[in-house]
Amino acid sequence: MIYPIIPKPQKITAGDTVVFTLTKYCEIKGAERFPEAVSSLRKFLDESFSLELLGSGRETITLGLSDEIGSEEGYTLSVKENEILIRGKTAAGVFYGIQTLKQMLMYGELSLCSAEITDEPAFPYRGFMLDCGRYFFTKEAVFTFLEIMALHKLNHFHWHLTEDQGWRFYSDNHPLLTEIGSYRSHTNFNSVPHSGYYTKEDMMEIVDYAHSLHIKVIPEIDTPGHTVSAIAAYPFLSCFDRNMVTATGWGVKYDVLCVGKESTFDFIQSVLDEVTEIFTDGIIHIGGDEVPTERWRLCPHCQKRMKDEGLREESELHTYYLDRIGAYLRSKGVEVIMWNDRVKDYMPDSSLCWQFWNTDMDKNDISGEIKKGRSFIISPEKAYYLDLPYGLVDLKACYEYDPYIEGITEESRHLLKGVEACLWTEFVPDMEKAGYCLFPRLGAISESAWTKKENKSFQDFSERLEGYYKHIKAINLNYATAKQALPEGIRKTASRLYWERRRLCWGGLGNVITNKQIEKKYGKKEK
Ligand code: ACM
Ligand code: ZN
Repeated sequence: MIYPIIPKPQKITAGDTVVFTLTKYCEIKGAERFPEAVSSLRKFLDESFSLELLGSGRETITLGLSDEIGSEEGYTLSVKENEILIRGKTAAGVFYGIQTLKQMLMYGELSLCSAEITDEPAFPYRGFMLDCGRYFFTKEAVFTFLEIMALHKLNHFHWHLTEDQGWRFYSDNHPLLTEIGSYRSHTNFNSVPHSGYYTKEDMMEIVDYAHSLHIKVIPEIDTPGHTVSAIAAYPFLSCFDRNMVTATGWGVKYDVLCVGKESTFDFIQSVLDEVTEIFTDGIIHIGGDEVPTERWRLCPHCQKRMKDEGLREESELHTYYLDRIGAYLRSKGVEVIMWNDRVKDYMPDSSLCWQFWNTDMDKNDISGEIKKGRSFIISPEKAYYLDLPYGLVDLKACYEYDPYIEGITEESRHLLKGVEACLWTEFVPDMEKAGYCLFPRLGAISESAWTKKENKSFQDFSERLEGYYKHIKAINLNYATAKQALPEGIRKTASRLYWERRRLCWGGLGNVITNKQIEKKYGKKEK
């Protein structure tokens, strides 16, 4: 029997005769030591088979720990006559063994052939990013995303909580951030207002639930760009104290935080103080992507900062800002991740971790950073941005992208912490569209995250998709069919053209006009 498990275990052998059939009488031994793994199995059996385990029968599932397993998250799984044994080095390993078992039970409709599995992850960091700034996803929806992550053996939830179009983190110190900044008057799709934010209780519940699924939560407070919602709430955060409304449409905005004023640092640091209290995993993503310098060029505060700090270009203000915020968090014992936009610039903070997203990641940039000993995560837009249509990022491109990018040597491999799938939501308003975007591409990325390169094959992955779809359907999620995920010819072109329509709602022209008005009012600085 071939078990269509995604991500594929490193080693699996299976017989052809059924030796184990799960009935409600199956007993779980060691259940009390691994409550999270057991509740994940019980939830699956209830949802997919309306089955509640009562115990005391002939069949047993035994859970336990074993020192013989090398990897912290590794496990072994063995299916024998009326008996399943799952051993992990840690509780996380047992939990992953259960995720594998869920897929086997789904495929075999509760009847299993004998099998021996030895498994461990390729990377310690296996991420999924959800953008809740553009579209708000309820707490319950976030729970569903976390469950999906666990099924795919992903272990870092990167939660993009702030955007031009919506601020979702409730702050006691600065309540207008959500009172004003969580609301936008309309969206890319229609003229209906959109809003929503997470209370501290919501976020704590989400963190607790994630931990029960062996997932760490990395909140992203994206600054100094992508901050129109914050500026709408507190205009003093911007250059020229601009009165704005939360952004409604797509595109990079020119209004960013003023890096000249000390009050900006006081404000963001006080928000981050609150963030560190809620998110206890000690990792924060500080964003840092897509920061136009137009306002800084004209702002007297920013110009004074440049002079005082001996900065030659406005772009160096961007680096100055990130370095200072990064150092602040580090002083509180927090690990810092940021997008790779400033990678070419001199960044004194040595302990940060880059998240590479640009298509044009240059091997020189990467090897330069490697020489400095900085770690990084790979999430290239051309392969791992799952909001992009299948005509731009098809299943094969997504699967075959090699995270061991040029510039990584054998000695520096440890600096590549792992990979991350990103779901931006400018054009993903709900779970239905999210499901279509994610499945089956999330399966492909999870395989690059978990399965070692030598055990990967697109052909083999494609053959396992049928079983994968069975699972996705059983949990009532939408998906793209294998044909939709690999469009060809006219369908591919149509998919690309459809995507390009988004440029119609890009604020490009508006940016140019506003910039001219500001230049007129405040005078164009001679460089
Ligand atoms: C990004 O896609 N702007 C990180
Ligand atoms: Zn300024």
